[in-house]
Parts: sequence; C-alpha cells; structure tokens
Amino acid sequence: MRGPGTRRGARRLVTPGAQTYARPVRPRKACRAAALLAPVLLAALGPAQAYSAAAHQAHTITYDDHSLSIDGRRLYIWSGDFHYWRLPSPDAWRDVLQKMKSGGFNTASIYFDWDFHSPAPGVYDFTGIRDVDRLLDIADEVGIYVIARPGPYINAETDGGGFPGWLAVQKGHARSTDPGYLAAADEWLSHIDPVIARHQLTDGKGSVIAYQVENEYYRDTPDGHAYIQHLRDKARADGISVPLTGNHKGIFTKELDIDGYDRYPQEFNCSHPDVWNKLPDMAFSHNPGEPLFLPEFQGGAFDPWGGPGYDKCRQLTDGDFEKAAYENNIASGATMQNFYMAYGGTSWGYLATPGSVYTSYDYGAPIREDRTLTEKYLVDKRLGYFVQSVAPLTKTDEVTDVPAPSSTAVLQRTRRNPDTCTTFAVVRHQDVNDKATDTALITLGGHLDIPVTIAGRDSKLLVADYTMDHQRLQYSTSEIMTHGTFGDRDIALLYGRPGQPGRTVLRYGAQPRVTVLSGAVRHTWNAGDLMLDYTHLGLARVLVQPTGGGTPLLLLLADDATADTFWRVGPSLVRGPELVRTAAYGNGVLKLTGDTDRPTRLAVFDGARAAAVTWNGRPVLGGELPGPGPVTMPELSGWKYAQEPATEDDRTWRTAAGPSLNADLYGYHAGAVRYQGHFTATGEETGAALTVSTGKAGTHLAWLNGHYLGTGRDLGFPAEALKPGQDNVLSVLTVNMGHEQDFHDNDSHKQPRGLVSASLLGSAQPISWRIRGGLPDPVRGPLNNGGLYGEHHGFHLPARPDAGWSITAPATAPGVLWARTAFSLALPPGQDVPVSLTVSGLSRAQLYLNGYLIGHYIPALGPQTAFPVPPGLLHTHGRNTLAIAAINGPAPTVTLTPTGNFTTPLSYADVP
Ligand code: GAL
Repeated sequence: MRGPGTRRGARRLVTPGAQTYARPVRPRKACRAAALLAPVLLAALGPAQAYSAAAHQAHTITYDDHSLSIDGRRLYIWSGDFHYWRLPSPDAWRDVLQKMKSGGFNTASIYFDWDFHSPAPGVYDFTGIRDVDRLLDIADEVGIYVIARPGPYINAETDGGGFPGWLAVQKGHARSTDPGYLAAADEWLSHIDPVIARHQLTDGKGSVIAYQVENEYYRDTPDGHAYIQHLRDKARADGISVPLTGNHKGIFTKELDIDGYDRYPQEFNCSHPDVWNKLPDMAFSHNPGEPLFLPEFQGGAFDPWGGPGYDKCRQLTDGDFEKAAYENNIASGATMQNFYMAYGGTSWGYLATPGSVYTSYDYGAPIREDRTLTEKYLVDKRLGYFVQSVAPLTKTDEVTDVPAPSSTAVLQRTRRNPDTCTTFAVVRHQDVNDKATDTALITLGGHLDIPVTIAGRDSKLLVADYTMDHQRLQYSTSEIMTHGTFGDRDIALLYGRPGQPGRTVLRYGAQPRVTVLSGAVRHTWNAGDLMLDYTHLGLARVLVQPTGGGTPLLLLLADDATADTFWRVGPSLVRGPELVRTAAYGNGVLKLTGDTDRPTRLAVFDGARAAAVTWNGRPVLGGELPGPGPVTMPELSGWKYAQEPATEDDRTWRTAAGPSLNADLYGYHAGAVRYQGHFTATGEETGAALTVSTGKAGTHLAWLNGHYLGTGRDLGFPAEALKPGQDNVLSVLTVNMGHEQDFHDNDSHKQPRGLVSASLLGSAQPISWRIRGGLPDPVRGPLNNGGLYGEHHGFHLPARPDAGWSITAPATAPGVLWARTAFSLALPPGQDVPVSLTVSGLSRAQLYLNGYLIGHYIPALGPQTAFPVPPGLLHTHGRNTLAIAAINGPAPTVTLTPTGNFTTPLSYADVP
C-alpha cells in the first residue's frame, strides 16, 4: 500500500479519527452557477426520461457538441451491440433486450445482415427468425432505443461481412459507386429501409433513434465520398428521418450527422488476458458540432479457430477493464458510447466468416451466449444506471487547472458542467497495469485534499457539487450508482470497493436529523456540511431528515457486490432477484417481473407508494420469491446411423460451364459443395492435382471411382481404382466455411469457394465436371446448410423418416457418417433452463438441432466443445431431433448440459 503523501499549499485538517478531510474552499476559478439555481429548477434539467413505448407520439432528435437530445432533453447514450441473426429464436430477442435494458443499456446497436435475408438477387425474406419488424416492435415494447446499422456492408465477423453470397460473383467493385454494386445495395436498402423507417422515434412509431450508413469505411477519395453521399441520399429518400451516423473516423462529417471512431484497445488476442494495453483518450475524435460518439468500443473480443476460448476473452475485457475504459471515455467527453458486444450469440449455420471466428460468437460479452449474466454485466449496470441518473454528465467540458493528485502514481481527469458546475473526476492509476494500492489526496470541484484509494486497476468516477434530487451533494468518495425520488423521499445508492473507506458530504441550511438505520456510519456537522464516514461493507442505510420539512434522503452505502443486487427498473428500485425485467404501478400495486435462480428475498425501495407487490403476476408474500424447481436432462440414446455414398448419381447436377469451378458462380454460396469430374482414362493417370479454397477450417475429401484418395493438393490414384478406357469418376467433396469479409475494401469477399481448379497427373485427358451444392432452406434461411448428400436428402430434418437406418454404428469409413436421435423435453413451465450440446470425440462434425445447423465441431483446431441452443429452437416442451454429420470418423458423443436454471415470466414458442 502506498501512502497519500502531502501536497504543497493544500490545507489539511485532521479529525479525531486521524483522517484528513477538506475544508470547503473554492478553486481559483470559482464555479458559482450552481449556487444560483434552486434544486427545483435543476430537477427540470434532469435526464430525458427512459423510453417507454406507451406514449406513441412524434419526437425530435437534436444534437450539439455535447450530447444527443430527445425533445430538447439531453440523453446519455449507453448502448450495446446485439445481432438478432445470431439468436435464431424471436422470443429470445425479448429476453436479451430486456436484460440489456435492466442492465443499464438504454440503446441497442443492431446490424441488419443483408446476407441473412437474401438467398438470391431480388429475393428477400423477412419472416420467422428474419422478422425484423417483430424485432423492432420488441425493442419498442422493451423500451430500448435502437441504432440501426443496415450496412450494406457490416463486417461483424460474418460471412462476406454481410454481403450475400451472390454478390461474390458481381463484377463491379463493392463499396464504391460502381453502378452494378450500387444497384444491388439499393435493392437491399429498398427492402430494409422501409422496415426501419416504420419504427422511428421521430415519427412516433418506434424506438429507432439513429441509422448508421456503411461500416468502418475509410476511403477518403472523391468516389468514397460519392458512395457515402449516395447511401445518405438513399436513406433519406426511403424515409429515414433520424440522425445518420458513421463509424468512419470522422471522414464523412459533411455527408453524415455524427461520424465517430471505433476503438478496441485490448485488440483480439485473448491469450494473455492479464496484460492491458493503454486506454486511449478518445477526445481527439470529437468532431465540432457533434457529440463525442464511440460507435463501437471494446466490450469483449472475438476468438478465432484454435484460440484460447471466450472465458479468456471475458477475462481480458472484464469488469475492471470496462469500468476503467468506459469511465476513461467519459473523462474524454463521450456522451454516446456503444459497446461491441452486449450479447454476441452464435454464428450458426454458415454465418461465421472463416478467418475470424468459430461457431460461438459469445465474444466474452456481458451477457453470455447462453443468455446468462456475468460479472461485467453487473459492472456495466452500475455505470449504465449512473449515466442515466446524473443528468449534468450530458453537458461537460474538460477542466485542466486542477492540482495533480498527491501521489504521482495516480491520474485524475476532470470535467465540469458549465451550467450546474457539477464536477466529475475519473481517478485511477497512471499505469493501467499497476497492481499496487495507493491513497492520494485529490481536488474535487470546490473541495480540497479528498483522500481517494485506488487499488490496482480500479477506476473511480466521483461527483461533486451536484444537486441530487432535493439534496445537495458536496462530494463523495463513493460512486453514485443511481438516485431518484421514490414516493415521499429521495434515495441515493452509492457504492465502493469492499473494505475501502468512503466519505460523503451533503450540504444543508440547518443541521438535519441523521439516523443510521444499519451499518457503521459516523457523522459530523460542520458549518453547513454533513459529513458521513464509513467503510464499504455490505449495506449501510442512513436516513437524513432536513429540518423544516425538506424531502428526506435515504442514503444506501453499499460495497460493489451489494450494489449489484439492486435493480432500478421503470419507476422502482428493488433488491434481491437475479434479474428484474419490468416494473409498473397499477391500482396501488407494484407489478414486477423477473427471474430468480434460487428462493430470493425481495426488498422494495419505493417510499411506500405501493400497498402490495406482485412478482410475475403472483402476490409476493412475506417478501419471498420462489426459486426454480430442479431439472434433469434426458440421456441421448437410440442413435441411428447412415453413411453417405462416396460417389453419387450426378445426372441431374449442374455442369461446369466455364473453366472456373468456383461454387459461387453456380449459385452455391454456403457449406459443402460436391464435384464429380468424368474422364476417359488412358491408363497413364497417376493422380489428380486439386486446388481448393474452402476458407480457414474448411476441408475437402476425394475419391476415384469410390476409392478414397484422401485430402490434400496432389492425390495419387491407387492402381486398382483406375478404369482405363472407361468413364472414371473423380469425386471431390469440399466443405466450405463461408466467405471472407471485405474489411479492407478490396473485394476480398469474392475469394472463390469450393474446387477452384483440377487436372490429372500423368495424362492430359480433359475432365468434365458436374456440381451440386446446397439449396437455401425456405424456413431456416440461405446460410443454414450446404450440399452434403445427407443435407440433400433431409437427413438433418426432423420430418425425415430414418426407419431404414442402422441401429449400430458402422465400421469407420472415409466420408460422411450421419447419426440421428430424438429426445423429448418437458421443462417446468415458467422456467428458463439454458442448454448446451456438449461434444467430445476426435472427428470433425456438424450438429443439427431440429434441422438448424447449430455448430461446427472441429476438435483438431478447437477450442469449442459446448454449443448453446436457444429455447424455441430447442423445443423445451416437446420432441427434438438431433442429427450429426461426422466427417472421416465416428460420430462424437453429445450430451445435453444445462448451464443455468431460472424462474422466468417469459415463454419461448417453438421456432418453425
Ligand atoms: C469492427 C467492425 C465490427 C466487428 C469488430 C470486431 O471493426 O466494425 O463489425 O468486426 O470490428 O469484432
């Protein structure tokens, strides 16, 4: 522990408790505005109300260089990314958006994936799991704002960066003004823009508050500007009336309303999760006249094939990182922060781009892929509640003339609201990898020599000179989580690290009555200041009753873990449950909904507004909420097996029309593609030279006349396989893993897939090729499946009869072995039990649940062995079919693993 040291010129008083505290001395440049404004008036400057769908009316959205405003009220945008297409169960969209909202996010940033909706030029699907109207309705009902990001290019570690497979064979340069590309992009926008336009806050029809044009587009050339201008004009012509945003490093401030910078300071290698990079000062990216907007700031990291796994990514970007980084952004003046991701989800089917990610897109995000909540979710919740409670934060300027902290190891960055003079200071170690504990004396607003303890990577966001509802906060060394007026009293919830000292000073005209209701809190009165000293430990409660009938204050002083048990949802502040989703008052009853993971005690802090409380529709008796009942998962048994043929009858397949065998040219854009080459052998052929392009983690297998040749570039023919003078069939199965992204704007999504070229070794005989890829599933979409024999014959589909299949596993043969079984679930109603398929075994395999390709298991690369399946896609009250396509080996072992058990008000309809 390093001590505070002293500062020259700082005046210090010593209390009997031997702690130093500040005499209220104003800094040189006094900020007096606050003293002139009565608390009542300041209350009117409060934050824009949390969005509620109930009042559908047109709203204005404006902005200046401090913040966005809705109907003239400034708003702090605290946003997280969510991709509906990575969660194939619409009822689960509500679950995640509610979890985001309750976790302090007031906004969801949503990519709309062109690829996911368009199997072919001119063909678009917005039904079922692609029903984005429903998605935006749910966002509206949940009461969360939306930043819509329809691309056309989105990146997102997804197939082609969001470009549909059919765009891979288009001639014109993508992401330019090439007319062919623009016509295609406009076709998509003509479909998606009207849907987004139907849900705009500006029209009073939904919660969309912004629309991002393109994605990380950095071509600062006349053509680049013309392209963005075209997309801008297209959006406006399609009825988009909300502000247009970009994440293009401010290159397009002329064309767009707010163009920010993305930043991922920890980058994407999760192998060394304990080493932090420097935190950037994003103030450099502040465009004049625009709020400081961070369209994507690191909220996790993706993990590639062979990577260390998402637990490590979550460790790299843990709660300490998020607190330090996001507070640092606040210190830089950001009032619009979007974290990528809030919930990552699953790159099921062929949604993943091969170079970057495997099936899981958990991302180490605050909400796990299985929809459970993490430690960092709770940290984000504390910060999210803070930015939405403390209105002066939406308009601040940097203050530079603040004396440095007494310890050189400690960094302080200060901002002040010019109207209210409320001061915000972010205090942390200079070196983000400093693990020591330091106590420094700092200056906070008009207050000197305030002792602040910084342990390791901790960061604190402290507030001074703040009219907090009907109270006047001089300063606190605890952080504010939330505050508000509940019924007949104010409540403020403050928090700090367990065991660390805290001090909160409030100003009153006359000495108030102070009652310590619980915990150890010392209080002194000194010339108008009520000083409370305490240690953060559990929960201390202090009631402050101003003399002369002012509004009383219930001060809740919590340690971090205790603060995390509070939920500020709708008009209520409650404590206890795993999750509170909604809260509403009606006829004197506080109606709460939420989840528990065990029997839980509910505490309601509402200033006696409600005579009764209900939880998920049932009266709460004695404050007790029930926990979930036990569940067991069935063992998977009764497997049946079928082996794919090595060579197929290809008479109905497409013939290769040109020299190129690129599968995309033949309209096959996802998954496996089978090629059969016919040649009349001379007898001289010794093998075949194959060039394949399957994307990272792809593979291929080849046979000659049913004899397995192996996998690789040059494959020798066994003598007995060749049939001189006859028709020979060279069969090549390519397992393609999706298209590259176009991050560098160089048409890299056009890299071919499948067999690119092939020739015979030892002879110049020509080969004539037939090709068979996958057909888009009309329900599950264009990226669900490829062209395996089994996929063509519906082996993965529940309806397919498997009566003729073998009930014993066949001897291992090269090629594709299918294994199928069915199981029924009857989970208790009102319970959410996230389930993963846990896989073990040595063979590569594709896993299909109820026809959905839910995972690629590749043990040779790793790391993924658990594949979460969302309820709805998993029939939690009915029959399920699980099919496995194992490649070159026995089928792996699969078990159903519950990863949580919660009571919930939500139910999940079976996905078609
Ligand atoms: C950004 C991009 C996102 C995503 C992210 C990394 O560059 O805009 O779409 O790819 O990187 O996960």
